Amino acid sequence: TITLKVALLGAGTVGAEVARILTQDAAQLQARSGAALELSAVVVRDTAADRGPHIPRELVSSDAEAAIDGADLVIELMGGLEPASTYIRRALSRGASVVTGNKALLAEQGPELFALAAENGAELSFEAAVAGAIPILRPLAESLAGDTVTKVMGIVNGSTNFILDKMDREGADLEAVMAEASALGYLEADPSADVEGHDAAAKAALLATLAFGSGFSIDQVHTEGITAVTAADVEAARAADQVIKLLAVVERSEAGVLMRVHPTLISREHPLAAVHGAFNAVFVEAQNAGELMFYGPGAGGAPTASAVMGDLVMAARHRLAGSAEPTRLAAEPIAALPVQDA
Ligand code: HSE
Repeated sequence: TITLKVALLGAGTVGAEVARILTQDAAQLQARSGAALELSAVVVRDTAADRGPHIPRELVSSDAEAAIDGADLVIELMGGLEPASTYIRRALSRGASVVTGNKALLAEQGPELFALAAENGAELSFEAAVAGAIPILRPLAESLAGDTVTKVMGIVNGSTNFILDKMDREGADLEAVMAEASALGYLEADPSADVEGHDAAAKAALLATLAFGSGFSIDQVHTEGITAVTAADVEAARAADQVIKLLAVVERSEAGVLMRVHPTLISREHPLAAVHGAFNAVFVEAQNAGELMFYGPGAGGAPTASAVMGDLVMAARHRLAGSAEPTRLAAEPIAALPVQDA
């Protein structure tokens, strides 16, 4: 049996579930990937904190370098730009495959990191970075690789959808429901990333990158969050048979690509109005496929871990086959349209 060593960087809500699945589903993961996937290290900032029953204590340390250098596959779930970026670069430079859920980092440094992976025959995969459990990046990059995607639109931030949904159902204020979203593990460590739309904007940039095969960054996305949405706005929408949703939209035209995130009034008849709680939904329009809809849990431990594990199994398979899959961007990049002021 071939064993591949897996280092886990970050052991929060998602990381703990990844560790659980690695243990509980070991036999199936081995059958699917062709190798035994062995958790070899868990790197956390605070080694004293209780990480629950699935993180083996003896694997926990704060020594990221040693963990990375001893691993074939590295899972980065720390979030944020640093030290995540340094660690991912170290892993890719060594030829290790990296699986990450770090949308903020990829939306800033994606093309650079993809290039580094390709130079080193490594793989950088990130299905977990957009829309939690929903398989959306792989369909865009692979299943639709022979089609022309023209538009991707949807609800890609679970916590703000949870908040807006709760405001709609209970007439509650934004602040009142934020605490609950946080307790359920739906909010980012810095909640402003969610409520100010930055998390959705990072995901929009990634969706555009995969859909249009060109590197886009978060600062090219016109972004407006939900902090100005009041209980009265939600009530007014309801009176008009509408609902307020935070939408991310990326569209391609002759002129280029337009990317935006903002609260949007939609009819209660629209399928997106039926997306409740921390669920996400993404519509894709492609020239030949027509209209596709993807729906599912957009946040939370086990759902996001599902996407991580899928990437991990694929990365393991590709390693065994000696065929790391580079993230392919178009030879002739499509430009982003200038961001216009609202
Ligand atoms: N805070 C994010 C969300 C987590 O609610 O969608 C998943 O990316």
